[in-house]
Amino acid sequence: MSKQSQWKSSTGFILASAGSAIGLGAMWKFPYMAGIYGGGAFLLMFLVFTIFVGLPLLVMEFTVGKMGQTYTTKIYEKLTQKRWLNIIGWNGNLAVFVLFGFYSVIGGWIIIYIFNVALQLLSFQGGKLGDIQFESIIGSPLLTIIGQGVFILLTMIIVMMGVEKGLEKASKFMMPLLFIFLIVIVIKSLTLGGSMEGLKFILQPRVEDITMEGILFALGQSFFTLSLGTTGMITYASYASKEMPIKTSAVSIVAMNILVSVLAGLAIFPAIAAFGYKPTDGPGLLFKVLPKVFDQMALGSTFYFIFLILFLFAALTSSISLLELNVSNFTKNDNSKRKSVSFYASLLVFIISIPATLSFSSLSGIHFAAGTIFDNMDFLVSNILMPLGALGTTLVVGHVLSKEDLVEHFGKDKFKLFAPWYYLIKFVLPIVIILIFVVQFI
Ligand code: TRP
Repeated sequence: MSKQSQWKSSTGFILASAGSAIGLGAMWKFPYMAGIYGGGAFLLMFLVFTIFVGLPLLVMEFTVGKMGQTYTTKIYEKLTQKRWLNIIGWNGNLAVFVLFGFYSVIGGWIIIYIFNVALQLLSFQGGKLGDIQFESIIGSPLLTIIGQGVFILLTMIIVMMGVEKGLEKASKFMMPLLFIFLIVIVIKSLTLGGSMEGLKFILQPRVEDITMEGILFALGQSFFTLSLGTTGMITYASYASKEMPIKTSAVSIVAMNILVSVLAGLAIFPAIAAFGYKPTDGPGLLFKVLPKVFDQMALGSTFYFIFLILFLFAALTSSISLLELNVSNFTKNDNSKRKSVSFYASLLVFIISIPATLSFSSLSGIHFAAGTIFDNMDFLVSNILMPLGALGTTLVVGHVLSKEDLVEHFGKDKFKLFAPWYYLIKFVLPIVIILIFVVQFI
């Protein structure tokens, strides 16, 4: 392979996997989780988990994908000759399926907001951005079901037409633009009167805010943003060439995810303080606060509209890979079944996403275990299926696969990182995951 195409293929790989990993997790979920679990304390725990647990696990998933080169409900068997280990792939597939179910709820909100702001811009509706009433929009069962239906439909069309590549290319422009927008929002947010309280809230870790529950959710958040345990990253690495640089790709995805999460936090919390919102407001946080921030800018509606389009784009580059994962597993990479499998998988996702959407309206009274139906779906994925999947893979990599094969795919580096990484995967991380997992049930 020539230098040039090698470079091309690894940027292609980084763009695709970053597009998949960076989505609602960093921008929407991080701020609302941080708001509930202590701000700075949560950020600190999230950073520690992401760097010391998430990064080695991401390197592990890339290694497995690169070694196995096939779809994820087959890859474990191919690597170990043990068929029952495919259960780890099926666990990931289930996780992705449920994840898409509640992801599409938020995707639907973005779509409804886009229409709302578009109507304002065309002045059919008049009014200011600040008048967008989150509760009345999200409280409407029909509207939100339509919104999420449109989001799933968009995802399905892209996957059916197989134009993901085009989207990945577009992400070269869209992602940096989203960064720029986030930075502008941060600056605007920090210059609002009374915003310093919010800055302190997100940057200053207070020891008394560290709770067992917070630790659990911070780990779940690291898993969620890095897509760990869902086998999504394994899939991307299985498409990549042998020369694909695993470690630098993993480091850049982790760094980008941290950057976007921190920027989202810096955009939201100062504004929350300035406008007198509660940080513990939950999943609607971003949707309530940002219109108010844009309202303070010249051409606010126009910029908010562009921001929402970029935000939708980030969500779509993730949702297409959620659907793609199901498609690749159920078609076993046979393209003739691609259209019908995409259709039925999307339909099923649409059905399971309805109770998730209604958690914010007609079913909001239903509370059990982790909270509403939506909260429980999220909890099942982020705190159970993802850690379980990652645990399974650490055990396979650390105790079943041959060390020589791993060394070869891990690749050389001047810091001799293989040994410490292998030690972490073989002994430390399985214990960490099991401990945190057990604690949540006591
Ligand atoms: N990391 C994604 C986000 O932050 C969510 C996600 C988790 C995901 N697992 C995945 C996306 C698998 C695609 C495939 O939004």
